[in-house]
Amino acid sequence: MKSFVKGGAAALAIIAASQVGADEDANLIINGETEITVRADAPEHLDNVSTIYSGWVFRSDETQALQMDDFDNPGMIFVDQGRDSWVLAEGSEGKSCADCHNEPESLANVRPTYPKWNDETEEVRTIAMQINGCRTEQMGAEPWKYDSTSMLNMEALLSSVARGQVMNVAIDGPAQSMWEQGKELYYTRTGQLDLSCANCHEDNYGNYIRADHLSQGQTNGFPVYRLKNAKLNGVHSRFKGCVRDTRAETYAVGSEEFIALELYVASRGNGLSVEGPAVRN
Ligand code: HEC
Ligand code: HEC
Repeated sequence: MKSFVKGGAAALAIIAASQVGADEDANLIINGETEITVRADAPEHLDNVSTIYSGWVFRSDETQALQMDDFDNPGMIFVDQGRDSWVLAEGSEGKSCADCHNEPESLANVRPTYPKWNDETEEVRTIAMQINGCRTEQMGAEPWKYDSTSMLNMEALLSSVARGQVMNVAIDGPAQSMWEQGKELYYTRTGQLDLSCANCHEDNYGNYIRADHLSQGQTNGFPVYRLKNAKLNGVHSRFKGCVRDTRAETYAVGSEEFIALELYVASRGNGLSVEGPAVRN
């Protein structure tokens, strides 16, 4: 059993998991063929955790089952919508993604390696930023709003073609300062409850907070289909929800702070498989 956190966590009544509902030893194989790494040795840069786990491990048997077969996974409808948009010519150049990238499978290396430093624009780019870069620079089309339906559908498509591949974002070189900014945010306590990401997702994963079985807050399953709101959810929207739960002011979706945090949190999952669109409650 892990130690309880001081301060606000007491008010939140974090309960050690004794009445466990989920099968934490289950393995995930999608469609009987794609093996997903849902637990792995922690990457070297992590000091306080020795094993990393996908959020899938902490879900109930029923929720876990929804992700084992694409016919049952409600997120796959949005992957199909992403495929429709992949071949749709838009913008002043009259081009579609397919015109330049052929099949989405040709971008299977993207999801495991983003956020990633872009030499040309000299910035760390999330997949959403890269997609919008192609829309505005290559297609002459309007950018999609961050975490909008169109954007998340396309991100779900790029995740689905990468399922089973191991997350491996680079944290050195020019990306390092942003990674450090993200790390700092991760360990900073915020809000009336005075809690950091780490207080819940590092100190208390496996325990219950209200009815929620706490995971490590990994991002390898994003975009995630949530049963709670019956749609795809982006990483930044999830961060926003978590920060709000500490009753703190939150950063904007697409902000530099959340890009840095996304890079850092993604790096905590280096070694887990891409599994998006994942299903969560
Ligand atoms: C006119 C050609 C063109 C179109 C149309 C286009 N792209 Fe690109 N895309 C590029 C080029 C050039 C690059 C940068 C070189 C590279 O990495 O392939 C790129 C890079 C990317 C990358 C990053 C690849 C990597 O390995 O890091 C992603 C993701 C991507 N495009 C997605 C899209 C999506 C989604 C669409 C449709 C909404 C699209 N692109 C439309 C030309 C295009
Ligand atoms: C008060 C506790 C609490 C804090 C603080 C908190 N979260 Fe969460 N978070 C949750 C709960 C509860 C869930 C839903 C169950 C789960 O997956 O852990 C969740 C889910 C997530 C998920 C989705 C995981 C998945 O597999 O779908 C991510 C990512 C995440 N949190 C990141 C963060 C980040 C980054 C921070 C800091 C900005 C943070 N959380 C702060 C409680 C918290």
